[in-house]
Amino acid sequence: MDAAHDDPAPLYRRLAGLLERAMASGALQPGDRLPSVRRLAQQHDVSLNTALQACRWLENRALVQARPRSGYFVAPTPPAPLPEPRLDPCMEQASFVSVDAVLQEFMRVVEDPEALPSFHAAPARTLLPEAKLQHLLAGINRRHPEYASGYRMEGSAALRREIARRAISSGVQLRPEEIVVTNGGMEAVYLALRAVANAGDTVALESPTYFHLLQVIESLGMRALEIPSHPRDGLSIEALDFATREPGAVRACVLLPNFPNPLGSLMPVAHKRRLVGLAAERGFTLIESDIYGELHFGEQRPPALRSFDPDGDVILCSAFTKTVAPGYRLGWVAPGRHFLKTQGLKWRTSVACPMLQQEVLAQFIRDGGYDHHLRRLRAALRTQMRQMAEAVARHFPAGCRLSVPQGGLMLWIELPRGIDSRAVFERARREHIGVAPGAAFSCSRRFDHFIRLQYGDPWSPRLEAAIRRLGAIVAELAADPAGVDAGLPPA
Ligand SMILES: Cc1ncc(COP(=O)(O)O)c(C=O)c1O
Repeated sequence: MDAAHDDPAPLYRRLAGLLERAMASGALQPGDRLPSVRRLAQQHDVSLNTALQACRWLENRALVQARPRSGYFVAPTPPAPLPEPRLDPCMEQASFVSVDAVLQEFMRVVEDPEALPSFHAAPARTLLPEAKLQHLLAGINRRHPEYASGYRMEGSAALRREIARRAISSGVQLRPEEIVVTNGGMEAVYLALRAVANAGDTVALESPTYFHLLQVIESLGMRALEIPSHPRDGLSIEALDFATREPGAVRACVLLPNFPNPLGSLMPVAHKRRLVGLAAERGFTLIESDIYGELHFGEQRPPALRSFDPDGDVILCSAFTKTVAPGYRLGWVAPGRHFLKTQGLKWRTSVACPMLQQEVLAQFIRDGGYDHHLRRLRAALRTQMRQMAEAVARHFPAGCRLSVPQGGLMLWIELPRGIDSRAVFERARREHIGVAPGAAFSCSRRFDHFIRLQYGDPWSPRLEAAIRRLGAIVAELAADPAGVDAGLPPA
């Protein structure tokens, strides 16, 4: 290998780097065939396995494409990226939530098995380790029939140990005894909110935000205060600073600093530090959901907010529903100094979580299966994100904007003003194209011309056709915004 000997990167990455530089310089052009794996190995004096790994690494980054029995080819030049959506800095007053009728409509169709892209923000089944989990489950079920007859209210000790161990990678020190296992990520946030806030209190949320968070706030009789969020950096700390200047104005702030739904933004470390300091100074509780934190496209897993809080004031919630087994419905909360209250609320709300699934996940993580799975999942999602972003740039009309996320599962797309995303949703769903209308992610009308697409499905000609058709629907509505379908639910 002729690259510098003091380069600490593994050999396959150095070889991939050489090929990447050849593409950047134009020595290898879009559509060119790469030298065969055997040839690469000979030319650079590396093993066949190293040469193959280099090609696969480039493929995972969508820089080359594999063609069966023909080898690897430089990927076509992607279309020019779309500009980023703009931050709307306006803030409305805190208000009681009344969830838009379009969300009820969305919930009715969300399970359409024919939808592509699917409506659900989750990786496709083919990207999840079903067979491995099934195998583990059968073995554990055989060895521990008692899991059918009993449960542990404090959750599986084995799973809590693995959660605590994994938390280190997000910069967080946890003891297993500080963790409450929950029914998915939503129960974790629900318990955290109930532990620190009461009916009538104001809860700040990033805006746009995940619609079920708005629904939970509605069901608890709390007020929502939507804080503008930037598609790249996430929640505006300046706006939150402004909103919390009156003592007691805000009781809690619920946010996803890493790749939130629907924005996919990533809060810079300096902002995370400032935010934790602001919460301590103003006396409100940060409730962070890090449910997408493991789905990062960069080399490093981004830190959790909680890692900047030595005192356990930040409540950290997460789940395994976006990464490994949506159907197991397992999540967790590390409530810090609100532990006893949160644990009591869990017992009173849903008592416990099924032991069998908890033990299966614990073993999957302990044996290294989870890390292996995550590496493959992240690579697949990064490729799918790029494929979908490029298809949107190819097929959507001028005037659309798109934020390219650094992780997570979704694209947030701004359509030309005047297009009602509810009309896009209505038309697309009839053709089994899964779109979430922007109106569902806020109580304001600010995101009525946005849509969310999720890229958990592997790329295919059918998916390309769906995005092309969606682009045509948007173009038709752009040409005739008044042609909104009859039968739309009221805004
Ligand atoms: C921010 C956020 N929290 C929670 C959930 C749902 O989590 P769970 O299925 O683990 O309850 C989602 C799913 O889309 C989400 O985006």
